[in-house]
Amino acid sequence: MAISIGINKVKTAVFISGKGSNLKSLIKFSKSNKSPISVKLIISNNSKAKGLSYGKIFRIKKRVINFRDNKVFDDKLITILRNNQIEMICLAGFMKILSKYFIKKFSGKIINIHPSLLPKYKGLNTHKRAIINRDKYSGCTVHFVNSKLDSGKIILQKRVKISKNETEKSLAKKILIQEHKLYPKAISKILNL
Ligand code: GAR
Repeated sequence: MAISIGINKVKTAVFISGKGSNLKSLIKFSKSNKSPISVKLIISNNSKAKGLSYGKIFRIKKRVINFRDNKVFDDKLITILRNNQIEMICLAGFMKILSKYFIKKFSGKIINIHPSLLPKYKGLNTHKRAIINRDKYSGCTVHFVNSKLDSGKIILQKRVKISKNETEKSLAKKILIQEHKLYPKAISKILNL
């Protein structure tokens, strides 16, 4: 990957739409000495996203971008990212599909965390589908983002066992705990640490 760490940490933007528990884990990771990234910017497409509160708590700049027009959305987003010299983008529960144009602009620099063992269960309702299919395992995946949904090169995965009486909620909770560990590991892996 064409990201070089140099002396400084890689300036990172985290994109969220909701709770932001992965955002919180990435901020905590970024504050440790061994982290190759520094979270400089929080972007949300949802002004009510609970995770936006971490901007205030950790004193990180946050911006809400929720234009319906994709071209306006892309232009605003690109301007903000450029103005903040962002070098890497981590999608963390960001529920808007990014345009091909945007992805091309930041090609190789966008990564995502997804709550399934990709290529299984791209898209939504991953836990429900794994339970209905009586899978023995589910898990989470960190991958590069390309123009096809949840299809970019896989960086790391973590398997989680599905118990007998598993519910969608209990599985989501178990997997989320693993997500918080996997995302920092995946970042360290691509930045060669
Ligand atoms: C996480 O489980 C993440 O993997 C998932 O949304 C949740 C966000 O939680 N992402 C997707 O489904 C993306 N397709 P968080 O806001 O607490 O980090």
